[in-house]
Amino acid sequence: MTSVHSGTRTTAAEGPPLQLDEIQGIVLRNRPSPYVGTYLLLRVDDPSAGRQLMGRLAVLVDSAANWWQPSLPALLNVALTYRGLEAMQVPPTSLNSFPEEFRQGMAVRAELIGDTGESASARWEPPFGTGEVHVVLSLVAADQESLAVVLERARQAQAQLPGLQVVYRQDFYQLASGRTTFGYRDGIGNPTIEGSGAPSPPGDGRALKAGEFVLGYPDETGNLPSMPQPAVLGRNGTFVAWRKLHTRVAAFRKYLHDNASGPDEESLLAAKIVGRWPSGAPLILAPERDDPELGADDQRNNNYLYQAADPRGLICPHGAHARRANPRDSEIIGDVHLHRMIRRGTSYGPPLPAGVLDDDGADRGIVFVFMGSHLDRQFEFIKSQWLNDGNFTGLDREKDLLVGDNDGTGNFTVPARPIRRRLHGVERFVITRGGEYCFLPSLSALRWLATLGA
Ligand code: HEM
Repeated sequence: MTSVHSGTRTTAAEGPPLQLDEIQGIVLRNRPSPYVGTYLLLRVDDPSAGRQLMGRLAVLVDSAANWWQPSLPALLNVALTYRGLEAMQVPPTSLNSFPEEFRQGMAVRAELIGDTGESASARWEPPFGTGEVHVVLSLVAADQESLAVVLERARQAQAQLPGLQVVYRQDFYQLASGRTTFGYRDGIGNPTIEGSGAPSPPGDGRALKAGEFVLGYPDETGNLPSMPQPAVLGRNGTFVAWRKLHTRVAAFRKYLHDNASGPDEESLLAAKIVGRWPSGAPLILAPERDDPELGADDQRNNNYLYQAADPRGLICPHGAHARRANPRDSEIIGDVHLHRMIRRGTSYGPPLPAGVLDDDGADRGIVFVFMGSHLDRQFEFIKSQWLNDGNFTGLDREKDLLVGDNDGTGNFTVPARPIRRRLHGVERFVITRGGEYCFLPSLSALRWLATLGA
C-alpha cells in the first residue's frame, strides 16, 4: 500500500520513504518522448562561479515530485565529476568520502570496462579524460524552439559567470519511434524501484530496494550503501556513467548481410543478437518475426522471463545483448538483483538511411547514461563480467556482439536444433569516444555546494 504526502512517497514495510522532492527527476522518471536535447560540459575555472551556478540550478532543476512541470521550457539536470567537486573546493574530508572508482574517473578505469583498442582513453575526443570536464548539464525539451530559448538563457548566464567555460557540447534526440541508430527501440528494460511512484509495467521482476539507485536508503543487501559525506551532499544523490558511444551502423548491417542468406534471416539474426526486434518486441514473446503492436505495448513488451520459456537459449540466445545485460531469471553465476541499472541513454547524429551498407563517415551513436548507487558492482560489473566475458552464463570468452570490446576474432553462438550456429570474426561495432563518471546530487546538495566557503 502506498501513499503520497507533499512529495514524499511511503511504501509500507519498505524502509524510509523516498524524498521525491529532493531527487533530480531524471533518476526516477522517463523523459517525455519524443524530445530534443543538449549536453553542455563545463569547466569551472573560478570556484565562486561554480558555486553561483549550483545556486541558480538548485531552483531550476526539477525533482521527481515535480516532473515535467518545468520552470523553464526545458528539463534541466546537473551532475559533477570528481574534478568538478575539487574545482568547487569541496573540503578534502568530503572528497575522500567518495568511492575510489569515482575519484579515479572513467579514463583510469577504461581498460577494466573494455575501452581498449580504438576505444582506448588515449584516443578519446578531448576534453574527455583530461580532467577538464567538471559539470555536465543536460537540457531536454519537446522541440527545437523551446530548447533554443533555454540554450540562449544558459548562454546569458554563462556570460555573467566568466569563471565557467563550455568545453564540449553534444546535441541529442529521441525519435517518436524510440529507435536508436542501429534501428532498435531502446530504453524499455529498466528496473522498478520501491517507493518511486513511477508506473511499473508488468514483467520486469519484483521492485528493487531504492538504495540500489538512490543514496541514503537500504539496498538489496539490506545495508545502507556507503554515502559521500556530509550527509546533505550524499543523500538522495546517485552516480552516473556518461559515455559517448559511436555506432558503426554500416559495418553492423554488412556483418548481418554477410552472415545471412536473405533479408528474413538477416532480421532474425539481428534479433538474436539484440534480444528484441526493431519495434522493441522481445524475442521470447515473438520468436519468429517482429510484432510492432507488441513492441509498442508497454503492458506487454517487458513481461517475460527467460528460464522457464527458454532455458537453452533456443529462442533468445544467452549471448543476446538484452539477455546478457539483464539475464532476469536465467541460470547464471551471481545474484542478478545486485547488478541492475537505470538507463537514460539517448541518440546523437543523423540516422543512416535504411539499406545503406557503406559508411558515410557521419558520427552517430548513443550517449549511454547509467545511473545507480554503485559504479563498481553495477556499471563496471555488467560491462566487464556480463558484456565482455561470457563465463557467468557458460559462454566462455564470448563477448556481447553488439557492444562488446571485440577485435575481429570474437564468436557469437546461436543455439539451435539439431546443431547450434556459430558466427566468427566479430568486430567492434561500438566505439567509445569519451566519457566521465559523475555524481548527480540532490537539490539540497546543490544548495550546500552553492554555500561552500561562505
Ligand atoms: C551503443 C551501445 C548500445 C546499444 C545500441 C544498446 C542497445 C540496446 C537495446 C536495443 C536494448 C533492448 C531494448 C531495451 O530493453 O531497452 C538494450 C537493452 C539493455 N542494454 Fe543496451 N545498448 C548499448 C549499450 C549498453 C551498455 C554499454 C550497457 C551496460 C553497461 C547496456 C545495458 C543494457 C541493459 C541493462 C538493457 C536492458 C535489458 C533488460 O532489462 O531486459 N547497453 N540495449
